[in-house]
Amino acid sequence: MAQPQKPRRSHTRLTVAALCLTLAVMIGITSYAPTLYRLFCSATGAAGTTQRVNTDAAKIASREVTVLFDTNVAPGLNWRFVPLQRSVKLHLGQDALVFFEAQNLSNHAIVGHAAFNVTPEKSGIYFKKIQCFCFNEERLAPGATVQMPVDFFVDPALGTDPSTQDVHEITLSYTFFESRRPDEAIELSRFAASPPDAEAGARLFAENCSSCHALDRAKIGPPLAGVVGRRAGSVPGYRYSAALRSAGFTWTPPQLEAWLAGPQDLVPGAQMPMRVTVPQARRDIVAYLKNSHPGS
Ligand code: HEC
Repeated sequence: MAQPQKPRRSHTRLTVAALCLTLAVMIGITSYAPTLYRLFCSATGAAGTTQRVNTDAAKIASREVTVLFDTNVAPGLNWRFVPLQRSVKLHLGQDALVFFEAQNLSNHAIVGHAAFNVTPEKSGIYFKKIQCFCFNEERLAPGATVQMPVDFFVDPALGTDPSTQDVHEITLSYTFFESRRPDEAIELSRFAASPPDAEAGARLFAENCSSCHALDRAKIGPPLAGVVGRRAGSVPGYRYSAALRSAGFTWTPPQLEAWLAGPQDLVPGAQMPMRVTVPQARRDIVAYLKNSHPGS
């Protein structure tokens, strides 16, 4: 329905502009460097095209909701328990992986049980969890800290239910209580000890990286298939920052994790404007990249 007055701009330009728009409102397990990010959007020529892209983006976007996270600890349970992202914005039906962190502040093992609550209440039946620490009684060793994944999606049926047409934000709230059935507990340390999960990494890549990267072609960022074992800044034809082009090292898994934790800390002057704040997510993404080979 949009009536372009001028010939349509190139696809890439639109993508970049749409990206600059979405990034501005995204708060997941990633964080964006505002200065770099502004630079990035103006360098790619996206500034000023927001108006047009708005209409274009509205046309292709299916319904989105923002899920906010809230955590509580019941009185008497000596744990610290926090969400590692404040919110995520996702399409109905889109699978999301988010993380929470718990720490046992006492000097003895404690078994906890998490109860959850979804508001507004009428959206509760559409909130589907695939993996959640709240399914079990969970034992945490004295002093231990773990990052716990929750895998969920919002059922597309929320979009067709007349009573949920006004729902744009859903709050997922967890409260950890001391367990009444401690003998049924399983160990939360399974998350800390679990090997990196390439499958989870694939999902995290789709959520957090695919706006700028593909495996086999350059987008806003360079192609990433086979990046483990490749020299940094070396894909022919991709216009890297001078800093990354002359970084002079070869990507190993630890280097990649360090890059994702803070590109500019690893390579001052590098121009990737985001970082991944959750260590487990970085490990999973790198496991996924390690399995990717050019042409596969
Ligand atoms: C907003 C766009 C953007 C997002 C999102 C993004 N990147 Fe990047 N990435 C870039 C740009 C631009 C570069 C090139 C940086 C330079 O030249 O300094 C880059 C470079 C890289 C490199 C170096 C590749 C090489 O050839 O040396 C890796 C590895 C990488 N990104 C991984 C990731 C991963 C994994 C994610 C998701 C967690 C991600 N990026 C998300 C824009 C992005």
